[in-house]
Amino acid sequence: MPKPTFYISTPIYYPSDNLHIGHAYTTVAADAMARFKRLTGHDVWFLTGSDEHGQKIERAARAKGETPQGYVDKIVEGFKYLWTRLEVNYSDFIRTTEERHKRVVSAIFQKLYDQGDIYKAGYEGWYCTPCETFWPEGRLVEGNCPDCGRPVELLQEESYFFKMSNYAGRILQHIETHPGFIQPASRRNEMISFIKSGLEDLCVSRTTFNWGIPVPFDPKHVIYVWVDALTNYISALGYGTEDDGLFRKYWPCDVHLVGKDIVRFHSIIWPVILMAAGVELPRQVVGHGWLLLESGKMSKSRGNVVDPLVLIDRYGVDAVRYYLLREMPVGSDAYYSEELLVKRINTDLANDLGNLVSRTIAMIEKYFDGKIKEPAAPEELDQELIELAGQVPAQVEELMDRLEIADALAAIWRLVGRANKYVEETAPWALAKNPASRSRLATVLYNLAESLRLIAIMTGSFMPLLPQRIWSQLGIADRPELQSWDSLAWGRLPFERDETVVVTTAESKLSAPAPSVITVKRGEPLFPRIDPASLAGGG
Ligand code: ME8
Ligand code: MG
Repeated sequence: MPKPTFYISTPIYYPSDNLHIGHAYTTVAADAMARFKRLTGHDVWFLTGSDEHGQKIERAARAKGETPQGYVDKIVEGFKYLWTRLEVNYSDFIRTTEERHKRVVSAIFQKLYDQGDIYKAGYEGWYCTPCETFWPEGRLVEGNCPDCGRPVELLQEESYFFKMSNYAGRILQHIETHPGFIQPASRRNEMISFIKSGLEDLCVSRTTFNWGIPVPFDPKHVIYVWVDALTNYISALGYGTEDDGLFRKYWPCDVHLVGKDIVRFHSIIWPVILMAAGVELPRQVVGHGWLLLESGKMSKSRGNVVDPLVLIDRYGVDAVRYYLLREMPVGSDAYYSEELLVKRINTDLANDLGNLVSRTIAMIEKYFDGKIKEPAAPEELDQELIELAGQVPAQVEELMDRLEIADALAAIWRLVGRANKYVEETAPWALAKNPASRSRLATVLYNLAESLRLIAIMTGSFMPLLPQRIWSQLGIADRPELQSWDSLAWGRLPFERDETVVVTTAESKLSAPAPSVITVKRGEPLFPRIDPASLAGGG
């Protein structure tokens, strides 16, 4: 049977400047979803890219005395470098200046024109260049952009318009009859009221600059950058070309993951373009909240940004990814601070998980010479741990299906917490003092080692480097059959019979272990504790 497909996209960011941790959040969240879907048996397409045309880019380039293309080429290299450092494993990176993209945008524009959905008229109204958005007078807030609050510019130019208003009824009905289409619900409600307040025809071309894709039938106009940009989600799949296998395989997209600032473009403008072009709509648009600073929303144009590369150098990629994914539930905003990041590292990663690994491995080395020994039949305490370990994978799967990434991590950390509590309750160091408890000690350490194997499997989508580090301490680095999602069933970890133990409980319920024996090996601490005092004055 072919695997089910799963297509997830990030926004294609503007290469007007380097990216900050707000962009890193979106892309890391999409990467975690993509990794998770691959792990759980899907054929995944994960698309990201860069949105390179428009007035904002042209101005940024000119301000640096460079050509737009030369300017974006360098910045886009930086995007790719950042994704490599963040262990982001995308399937394709689309640049809107690529020929494969431009020809699809032109063809769709031509089609909409030919069928009468695009017409020419005079535009007189306002434009927010940082947001690349047209605003009618009536939508301005105190004369500024209603989205970002910054000043707008007056435009008076001949333009092409797209008959959005003709589709208002259809898009509203689609949103209302597909409750999952826009998530979370707060975003859906905003979009419904936006449409109900009146959907006007959209201005879709500009004439006062030329850094864009020319209107095919009237080349003194360039196509509006948002129409150009949104089309990336299908141009990258070869839509409308002779080579459209990816489009036929992966479209419709399962999740367009975006920030709440651009939900309107993705859940109204984009679907209406697709409706007009006769293309199926994406299944879901998820609009996550913003990472905020005390000084307000982080943004390139405000210049108050946090560079993810600095954080990766300082704390490691897994810790940075964990912090971003754990701290920000998809539905709400979150404040960024380096103090919080350090606190997460010290509590969740160093204390809870790191100590669990190092204590477990150290005890197996000390008491059993590094060998994982056969467990006896489970007692009540063991049963509790085993039961929870049996429940968490399904919880994680369910939460990930709803993109509740922070909660999925919290579910895994319930198992981490339970395992730590199990160490305290069973007190292996006390068992070790009594030779008669040797079989019990073997059982406890087996259960801890097995918990670690499962935790490692489940954390890998979020922290890609972590699982191998745990597996190599467990001595199963080269045992893929013990690392798959399907191997999450309790009791797969191989063990050996302890000849010095008299096994008293005959009815061990565990299935026969794989024959090869493994030896644990203590490694570097997974997440060294960070002295919060080292932050003083910095951050
Ligand atoms: O809008 N917190 O590009 P962009 C969380 N080119 N996420 C943030 C964030 C923050 N403080 N700041 C940015 C564009 N983001 C268009 C997209 S798509 C067809 C075209 C993330 O460079 C978030 O995902 O302004 C937001 O939607 C996106 O970056 C905006 O990136
Ligand atoms: Mg923006």
